[in-house]
Order: sequence, then structure tokens, then C-alpha cells
Amino acid sequence: MSGPAFDPVARAFQPDAVGQSVRLHGWVLRSRSSGGILFLVLRDRTGAVQVTARKDALGDAAFAAAEHVQNEGSVEIEGAVADDPRAPQGREVRARAITVLDAGLPFPIGSDQTEEFLLDRRHLAIRTQENVAIFRVKAEVLRAFRAFMEAEDVLEMTPPILSGNAAEGGAEAFQIDYFGRPGYLGQTAQLYLEALLFPNERVYAITPSFRAEKSRTPRHITEFQHLEAELAWCDLDGLLAFIERMWISVCRSVADTRPKELAELGRPPEELRAFTAPFPRIRYAEAIERLARQGLPVAWGSDLGAAEERALTLESAAPVFLTHFPRELKAFYMLRSTDDPRTVEAADLLGPEGYGEIVGASCRETNIDHLVERLREMHVDPAGYEWYLDLRRHGNVPHAGFGIGIERLMRWMLRRTHIRETTPFPRTPSRHTP
Ligand code: 4AD
Ligand code: MG
Repeated sequence: MSGPAFDPVARAFQPDAVGQSVRLHGWVLRSRSSGGILFLVLRDRTGAVQVTARKDALGDAAFAAAEHVQNEGSVEIEGAVADDPRAPQGREVRARAITVLDAGLPFPIGSDQTEEFLLDRRHLAIRTQENVAIFRVKAEVLRAFRAFMEAEDVLEMTPPILSGNAAEGGAEAFQIDYFGRPGYLGQTAQLYLEALLFPNERVYAITPSFRAEKSRTPRHITEFQHLEAELAWCDLDGLLAFIERMWISVCRSVADTRPKELAELGRPPEELRAFTAPFPRIRYAEAIERLARQGLPVAWGSDLGAAEERALTLESAAPVFLTHFPRELKAFYMLRSTDDPRTVEAADLLGPEGYGEIVGASCRETNIDHLVERLREMHVDPAGYEWYLDLRRHGNVPHAGFGIGIERLMRWMLRRTHIRETTPFPRTPSRHTP
């Protein structure tokens, strides 16, 4: 690129910009022309500003070319910043020259379009102001998690996504052809993080996880961003305290850095600053008693569905830990409780306001016989888990960990109806394009 550098759109809003020349480039959010004046709103990553262009300033040919630019067409603009009370935020750029890079075809995304129409054009729909706000918040959420982990001295790891066995049992794993042998897309990085814990003590990873569940619900996607951590020397209380600190820290950080986007998306930032530890805790056994009183009977050993999770948290502004599940409900690696061997030292964190499970956490079983027994109960051949069982033979230590679905968190945080709104290219049972 030659010539003078381009200014960010935000430059136009700086106090000393009035009367100054700017050179901008970006995309046209919308435009209209009347009486020889073109009004267009130009956006770049730093914001949007009104640009006015007069036919007599641009010349007939350049004005006609600029008038033909469609929404989302790309342009370069040179002009002077001026205060104008009629412009949004009281500022505009009066153009001296507009260079059209790509006038564009009529942009197909507008208002009143069906969800399917928009999902088919998701590669374009991600440009809407609402989507820009959502994915700015998401970038901040990821940054805030990493900052928290760094502050807690937890090291980021890069476990594999492809593997030769399906960590949580085969049913919900996508199988692929791995050079003629079965391979699986990861449902969780947990087992690898457990291995990485021994040399590092405190580890985490953010990876895509895949679930071949045909669940058409507002909280399931088949590919999601999974943040998982494993902590050595940690019991259930220590684990829940860690998760509470993480929740509070991430929420405050997003409230501090993205208040405007949060407010636009329907979450007043103050609500993200209001959390305090400890969060309410309820054992599975108490939860099913409470649900029975609420007219939602659940037999001991049955899983709680979305309706039950909702009933337990609908009235709660805080997230709620549901703990001590019957062990037959949960994965083979969860630690048996010593006070009641029918249950495991596990917790799901249910989002506030009825949003359901956002975190799955547990202490890990250290007793190799219990692990093998549980695999057999689940009709899984322990031979496939030999490397994992080996971890219990070389410096076994108590440890615990959890996984949080980033999109589940965002669905609650941004009060979205469907989880797919929180991921740029959602994968669901009926869709894996664009
Ligand atoms: O509860 P899950 O299945 O737990 C595990 O995979 C553990 N191995 C994690 C660990 O301890 N390292 O999944 C963890 C979280 C859920 O609480 C949920 O937030 C999210 O992952 N999740 C999904 N998010 C979106 N769509 C789906 N289909 C999801 N399945 C799980
Ligand atoms: Mg779970």
C-alpha cells in the first residue's frame, strides 16, 4: 500500500479532529442521496461515521459512482471532519473524494427475514451490527478466560482433537475414516489434560469439541468451543471455589471492556458485576425432592432435563451448583463419594435465570479398580483406555477439573434464544454449511 496511511473511523470522533483532514476506508453501512447530496455511513472495525458528499465537490462522474455503491460496498474516502448536530453523535466527514473499491451487488441481508434464510447466508449475516457486537463480546470472553488462567498460574496446553478412542463413550462421537482405521473427533480434551497435569500441575485448553447428538434444542450445537481445566491437589470444594472465581472474574472483565455491546444486546453490564461467591449449592438428592414438591417428579438415578434445570434456577440471579449425582448418570472417570458411594464428587453449574448447565465439573477417580469397574459397567473395553489407566500407575495424585461451553456461557450472558447465535458458523444436526 502506498500513499498516506488511513485513519481509523474512530479518529473522526476525537476532540481535536474537527477541521482536520482524514483518509478512511471501510464498508458502507447504508446510504441515501437527495438533492445532489449523498449521505453514507461508513464503518470499519473502530466504529461508524456519517459521510456527506456534494455533487459539486466530487464532480458528476465520481458522485454518480459513489451513489451506486450498495450497502456493504467498499470505499476509500478523503474529507474533513465537521461538527454537525444533525449527524449521529454530532459529527460527520465532508468528503472531497470517494474512491469506489467495490460497489457491490445489492446486499441480501435486511430486516424481517426468516432464520433459515439468514443461516443460509451466514457468511454475510455475520456483518450485521448485532453480530459484530456478539463476536466482539466473544473475543473478550476468550481473552478474559485466558487472563484469569494466567493469573491463577494455570498453563495453556494444546491437546489433540483427533483421536483413536471416544473419550466419553462412543455414542455421541463423530467417527471419521483415519487412513482406514476408525478415528474420532474429540468430545472433550479432558483425558489428555489429565495426562498433561502430571508434568504441569495446573493446565487448561480451549479447543473445539464435537458432539454427534441429534438434540435439536436451543442449547446444543454439534461443534462448540470448550474451555477445560485440570488442577492437581484439588477437591470438590477447591474446584467449586475456582469455578466461582473464574465466573466472577470473566463476567467483570467483559462488563468493563464491552459495556456498550452488552447493553445493546440486552444485558445491562451491572448485572455481570453483581456476582459474589459462594454460589448456591444443592445436592442431586435435595434437588429431586425440591422438584417433586414443584410437581416435576424425578426418580433417583434419572437425569434432570432442561425443564428440571430450568425450574431449579428460574428465580435465581446467581448460577447454582448441582452436586453429588448418582454415579450411573455420569462419566466413568468421576470420583466416588466416600460418604455415599452411590454418588460422585461432581457438580454441574446451572446458569442463572433458567439457562441450564453451563459447566460440568468433577474430582477424578484415582482408584484404578473403580475406573475399570465403571468402564465394564458401561460395556466399554478397558483395553482402549490403557494409556489413561497408566496415569494412575505413576505418581497418582488427587485432582479435579471441569469443562465450560463458551457458547453456553454466551447464550446466557447475551440472553440469546438459541445457542447458534453465539457462534459465527453454527453446526447443528441439520446444518454444517456455510
Ligand atoms: O458436561 P460435559 O459433557 O463434560 C465434559 O465433556 C467433561 N469431560 C469436561 C471436563 O470436565 N473437562 O461438557 C462440558 C460443557 C457443558 O457443561 C456445556 O457447557 C458444554 O460443555 N457442552 C455443549 N455446549 C454446546 N453444545 C453441546 N452439544 C454441548 N455439550 C456440552
Ligand atoms: Mg455435562
